[in-house]
Amino acid sequence: MKARIIGTGSYLPETIRTNKDIEQMVDTSDEWIRARTGIRERRIAADNEQTSDLAVKAARKAMDMAGVSPEEIDFLVVGTITGDLPWPATACLVQEGLGLKNAFAYDVSAACSGFVFALDAAVQQIESGHIRKALVVGAECLSRIIDWQDRNTCILFGDGAGAVVLEGQDGDHGVLSTHLHSDGSYWELLHQPGFGTRTPATEQGILDRIPYLKMAGNEVFKVAVRSLTEVAKEALEANSLTADQIDMMIPHQANLRILEATAKRLKMREDQVYVNVDRFGNTSGASIPIALDEANRKGLIKENDILLFDAFGGGFTWGSAVVRW
Ligand code: ACO
Repeated sequence: MKARIIGTGSYLPETIRTNKDIEQMVDTSDEWIRARTGIRERRIAADNEQTSDLAVKAARKAMDMAGVSPEEIDFLVVGTITGDLPWPATACLVQEGLGLKNAFAYDVSAACSGFVFALDAAVQQIESGHIRKALVVGAECLSRIIDWQDRNTCILFGDGAGAVVLEGQDGDHGVLSTHLHSDGSYWELLHQPGFGTRTPATEQGILDRIPYLKMAGNEVFKVAVRSLTEVAKEALEANSLTADQIDMMIPHQANLRILEATAKRLKMREDQVYVNVDRFGNTSGASIPIALDEANRKGLIKENDILLFDAFGGGFTWGSAVVRW
């Protein structure tokens, strides 16, 4: 039994924030941002749009493509670090929005690796025979936890959601393997300090900008490239594949320099790597399913193609998955 992707969907908020717009907010320039990150613009959710709204819109498209009704979904898992509320899980709000009355639902918190970790959860449920159909969503409103006064971070991130429907099928199409890792000793390099039990809500905390994402960009960069390379190699070896046998690598869209450095170390050609970070920035857990859906709807993925998902994020967490389409 394999978990096969039978539908993909994505949703990006309408509002575009360009590098020129960010020039008005912090001391930066379009040239600096493009040279260091490859990002030209990103999408920003409207004030009345929540992470669950983005997730519902992406999921509906994936379910339409798959031709499945809400009642058929047994399991919903959402990878997010920007849930609507600290709790309950955003997955429960998405379940309500979609009317998935037969599903159980929970969130996975693995930052930019959120989609790959959530995908693995669904694959395990399907391969064990516990369930037949799963909906896996990556959804983020990072603009709500970004410090728009911090030029080191605010240039990088965007909002959006992507989703896939998985079905258990006999045969050799579907997710061939998943590979997950984490190392909590790096947590401080990329995190959101508050408000949690370590730093409970206080008025001073707001003045100290505690609710906003903090990142040591240089250090993250180095570990990201190393980990993305290693976990991609692990996936290739597990499936006795060489890099040139990958039809499309869909990496987490962190920034162009990370993607290029990783591809180079893997000896992958530019045309093997799907890139849309220039238009959407880093959408954390949403970036792989957004890119997958875009490639799929453009007709760039053919039956039997071998895809490699490769992700790295806060925690640190990192993971990969190999899929036969
Ligand atoms: N505009 C202009 N100048 C800036 C900006 C900005 N937006 N941000 C920083 N600078 C300045 C710095 O202040 C510094 O100036 P100084 O030399 O006078 O002190 C100079 O530019 C160089 O700063 P660095 O931090 O060394 O710049 P770097 O080349 O490392 O680029 C960046 C910064 C883009 C954040 C890079 O480190 C990076 O891409 N890191 C990876 C982080 C990442 O992708 N995180 C996402 C989450 S994890 C993930 O998704 C994988």
